[in-house]
Amino acid sequence: MLNDSTFCITTFGCQMNKHDTERIAGTLESLGSVRVDDNADADFSIFLTCCVREKADERLRGQVASMKNDPVRPGSPYGHRYVCIGGCIGQRDGEKIFKDLSNVDVVFGTHNMQALPHLLEEAIDSGEHRVEVVDGRAEFHDELPEDREHPWAAWLPITVGCNNFCSYCIVPYVRGREISRPIEEIADAAKAYVQQGVREISLLGQNVNSYGRDLYGEPRFAAVLDAVAASGVDRIRFFTSHPKDLTDEVIDRFATLPNLMPALHLAVQSGSNRVLSAMNRRYTVEHYLELVDKVRAARPDIALSTDLIVGFPGETEEDFLATKRLVETVGYSQVFTFIYSKRAGTPAAAIEDDAPHEVIQDRFDRLVDVVQKGAWAFNQHDLGATVPVLIEGTSKRDAAMVAGKSPKNQTVHARLPQGCSLDDLIGRIVDVRIDEARTWYLKGTLL
Ligand code: SAM
Ligand code: SF4
Ligand code: F3S
Repeated sequence: MLNDSTFCITTFGCQMNKHDTERIAGTLESLGSVRVDDNADADFSIFLTCCVREKADERLRGQVASMKNDPVRPGSPYGHRYVCIGGCIGQRDGEKIFKDLSNVDVVFGTHNMQALPHLLEEAIDSGEHRVEVVDGRAEFHDELPEDREHPWAAWLPITVGCNNFCSYCIVPYVRGREISRPIEEIADAAKAYVQQGVREISLLGQNVNSYGRDLYGEPRFAAVLDAVAASGVDRIRFFTSHPKDLTDEVIDRFATLPNLMPALHLAVQSGSNRVLSAMNRRYTVEHYLELVDKVRAARPDIALSTDLIVGFPGETEEDFLATKRLVETVGYSQVFTFIYSKRAGTPAAAIEDDAPHEVIQDRFDRLVDVVQKGAWAFNQHDLGATVPVLIEGTSKRDAAMVAGKSPKNQTVHARLPQGCSLDDLIGRIVDVRIDEARTWYLKGTLL
């Protein structure tokens, strides 16, 4: 029934949604539907949504509402464009979405992506809305085929869900409790990826460090790293890592596993112990700094990145200055800065706060300034160095420049040599000598 149809997927949010996108695309393609890049050419417009901050909510609503009067694609076998909402807003709002957005046909939750084909078929048959959102235990849908964005890179979820309940965060409510995938399955998936030519595996979980607690009674993330490293894949990365669960064994792997890339995203959220406690993060700034020291002792050149929230309810100027100091002390390669966004249903949403928006915006701007200076300083260390770069495509601004990633996850640009085409380089790891170091990228010469 889906034969001769077309679909377009718009993805918001984190790597979990990117991975789910690949599975949904693979599933629909296996049923004869063809992927297109533009909603104007699609019979099925699928949105994988995010509700971690209000802005993500607003963008989705704006985009879906604006499609309401768009013409159906010429030649559509259905005479109708089916709009499908999945991901975290689908999970959170379920049936309610049909009331808010009248042009939506199908809603599915974060645990229900395998249901999309039959929901679509039922909606086509009946001419009515369809919804499937279950609560409870998440599952790994490794039985679904996947159409990966890049043949040389694979996301490999090792846990889904989250048990941490940071007081500001909606994720545990929309992704469910944490469950781990058995280590043998992860090892087999890694081996299979290597056989398919994958060069980089990114292990995924809201907190990879607590991997295995549900299965083995204790975290066993270091064993996962060993198993994936044994697959022989060139590059291993992982996202993301909660400081309260980062063990010495995992830190040790940065010293001993050559294919574990020297980059660690260790979300700190705030540099004030008072705010960290109100956020229910369950570590102190002192503990975090100890971890930074240990990680640097294991791998001195490691790139540390982090997430920070500005304007958590009750944050004072003093708390903010502590955060700013922490950023200066650690010397991050990259910091993702967010203004606190109230999420209904989370404990922090109940905390009264009358801080004016201008004050928060001013703190945010001052923090971004420090972050940029830090990123610039970090990149200067690589001037003159030769770094292996996994080529991913061309630069957005200049198609004559190839772009890729260094082991430390820096973006690297280099001019395509005469007589060489992008196809010769894409997905390969090539040496680049760094001639220029900017805040957000390095520029060099292909050797
Ligand atoms: N599990 C990951 C971790 O703990 O590192 C983070 C996942 S969350 C999708 C990504 C980031 O969004 C968080 O680290 C946090 O900085 C930010 N975030 C989450 N809830 C937020 C909120 N209510 N307002 C602003 N930022 C938020
Ligand atoms: Fe959200 Fe905290 Fe879980 Fe990360 S660890 S997903 S910030 S609740
Ligand atoms: Fe957003 Fe859901 Fe990820 S809320 S950040 S897409 S887990």
